[in-house]
Amino acid sequence: MTTAANIVVIISGNGSNLQSIIDAIENGRLNARISLVISNNPEAFGLIRAQNHGLASQVIDHRDFEDRTQFDQALLQTVASQRPDYIVLAGFMRILGTDFIRSFKNRIINIHPSRLPHYKGLNTHQRALDNGESEHGVSIHIVTVELDDGPVLLRGRYPIEPGDSVANLQQKGHQLEHRMYPQLLQWLCAGDLQIGEDSIVFKQQEIHQPVEFGSA
Ligand code: GRF
Repeated sequence: MTTAANIVVIISGNGSNLQSIIDAIENGRLNARISLVISNNPEAFGLIRAQNHGLASQVIDHRDFEDRTQFDQALLQTVASQRPDYIVLAGFMRILGTDFIRSFKNRIINIHPSRLPHYKGLNTHQRALDNGESEHGVSIHIVTVELDDGPVLLRGRYPIEPGDSVANLQQKGHQLEHRMYPQLLQWLCAGDLQIGEDSIVFKQQEIHQPVEFGSA
C-alpha cells in the first residue's frame, strides 16, 4: 500500500462531508489521513465529529482578526505547517484570499451544490427551483481566485421532482456529495486524477470536461 496522502479539511458548520471522508478513510475506501481539521466557526458541529474520531482540530475564528488578510495569513501558516498534499474545503463559508490560494495552487478542492458553471454562489437550490429546473447537482472543483470558477473535476446530478422543496434538494444533494467527495479524493490520492499546470489527467487520459459521477 502506498503512503496515505495527507489532507487538511476546512469547515464552517455541520461537517457531514467531513464525516463522509472520515468514514471512507476508516473503512479503507480512501487511502488518506486527515492531519488537521480547521474551522473558522468555534460552534461548528464538524469539530465534534473530528474529536469523536481522534482527529486534531483547530479553530481559527475570522472574528479574532482585524481584516481578511490577517485571517488569511493565520490560516495559511496553520495549513502550511501540516505540509498537506491536498486542502479540502467542506462547507467552508469564507472566501479565501489570493495569497492563500496561490500558496497552494491546484491543491485546494471545494464541493459546491450545483452543476457548475451553473449557479455559482449561495442559495443554489432556491434559485434552481425558482427557475423551474428539472435537475440540479453537485460539483467538485479546484479553487482558484475567482469564486466557484476553478476547473471542475467531477460533477453529479439528481432530478428535481414536482413538490421538491429546498430542504428536499439539500438532502438529495448531500447524499450525492457524501458519495462523490470520498471517490474524488481517492482518485486524487491514488494518482488516478492528476492536476498539472495546464492539464488534468484522469486514468491516463487528458480530460477537458468534468468527469460525470457514476460514469467512471
Ligand atoms: C455542502 O452542501 C457543500 O456543497 C457546501 O456546503 C455544504 C456543507 O455541508 N459547500 P456539510 O457541512 O458538509 O454538512
